[in-house]
Amino acid sequence: MKIMSMKKGYCLIMTTFMLFLVARSQLTTDFYKTTCPNLLGVVRKQMINAIKTEMRMAASLLRLHFHDCFVNGCDASILLDGTDSEKSAPPNQNSVRGYEVVDQIKSSVESSCSGVVSCADILAIAARDAVLLSGGPSWKVLLGRRDALLPATQSTVNGALPAPTEALDSIISKFDAVGLNLTDVVSLSGGHTIGLARCATFSNRLFDSNGTAAADSTMDASMASDLQSFCPVNGDGNRTTAIDRNSTDLFDSHYFQNLLNGKGLFSSDQILVSGDVAAVTTTKSLVQSYSNNFPLFSADFANSMIKMGNISPLTGSSGEIRKSCRSVNSS
Ligand code: HEM
Ligand SMILES: *[C@@H]1O[C@H](CO)[C@@H](O)[C@H](O)[C@H]1NC(C)=O
Ligand SMILES: *[C@@H]1O[C@H](CO)[C@@H](O)[C@H](O)[C@H]1NC(C)=O
Ligand SMILES: *[C@@H]1O[C@H](CO)[C@@H](O)[C@H](O)[C@H]1NC(C)=O
Ligand SMILES: *[C@@H]1O[C@H](CO)[C@@H](O)[C@H](O)[C@H]1NC(C)=O
Repeated sequence: MKIMSMKKGYCLIMTTFMLFLVARSQLTTDFYKTTCPNLLGVVRKQMINAIKTEMRMAASLLRLHFHDCFVNGCDASILLDGTDSEKSAPPNQNSVRGYEVVDQIKSSVESSCSGVVSCADILAIAARDAVLLSGGPSWKVLLGRRDALLPATQSTVNGALPAPTEALDSIISKFDAVGLNLTDVVSLSGGHTIGLARCATFSNRLFDSNGTAAADSTMDASMASDLQSFCPVNGDGNRTTAIDRNSTDLFDSHYFQNLLNGKGLFSSDQILVSGDVAAVTTTKSLVQSYSNNFPLFSADFANSMIKMGNISPLTGSSGEIRKSCRSVNSS
């Protein structure tokens, strides 16, 4: 009896310890300290170049890391080329951009330290630099991720990424599925303080199914009429407009002020304050706090980005360090 309960206690302690090890990320900030000491400087330099050429690239690289991490974890699976690849799934195709910049960073990293830095880590560093170079917070990026050997299937992509038309409860469950809570939903939605969106992603809020102008009642009327002219029915669904209409290139609190004024672009933005589920009490109060407290938004955003960057990384001998971010290494 006594031995049994001791065994049980021992098992419980071991299980708890093992769960702790699993839950605790194996990533570290100094992972490349000896193998690629200049890594952060090399990535920063390439990000500055890319943004000098096109400011929007900051937004595009931030989004690339998000779309990588939510689908099978932060494993650079989104970067793999090929038919039926993850990047050709509907939420990514003709939408996610910045792949050429990643190639440029990777080649620059390879020339100073060949074969040691993963594409997944490059995405995490580039996303941090993108935010910092847009006027947002910085944070210490955890490193040591390895690259996937396979892209995720298209149905995995569709199941994991929230759509701009999705209900609040459903968005919350998709965040919950990767270990992110309500604070993360709201702070990370603040990524929409930079970047552009195509008419096709929000025109559902502007017109009836028969094409009659009929704006979503939660959208500010003058913004709705601007957008109805900018994105006419049968117009170019790929035409782009600012997500944060006050300061498109600046990482600031305007996104949240906009929501309080009915000026969120996507339905998934506006429902953080006008959704009709219980959770909206919490999301709305976070929107209010962030709208007039940039330091709070910055601190929460940085914390949430670190959490997002910790989603199911491949470590140890799982996966590989890709030579080209677009294809797995040939054996
Ligand atoms: C809450 C769920 C989210 C939904 C439904 C959503 C949806 C979208 C959509 C539809 C677009 C426009 C795509 C296009 O025009 O083709 C977009 C753009 C963008 N999203 Fe999100 N998003 C979400 C969360 C996030 C998160 C967590 C981040 C980063 C932390 C983020 C960062 C961005 C950025 C920066 C852009 C602009 C990209 C560019 O200009 O290239 N989004 N998002
Ligand atoms: C979400 O998690 C963070 C820790 O990462 C915590 O500080 C915050 O209070 C949590 N938010 C909610 C709404 O539970
Ligand atoms: C379009 O449909 C709406 C209802 O969804 C209706 O009120 C409106 O009259 C219709 N317009 C036309 C031109 O058919
Ligand atoms: C956007 O452009 C792509 C590539 O040129 C094209 O295949 C797609 O049909 C366009 N989408 C819309 C909504 O117009
Ligand atoms: C955002 O822009 C609109 C239109 O230009 C302006 O009316 C509003 O005051 C601006 N809001 C802030 C907070 O700057």
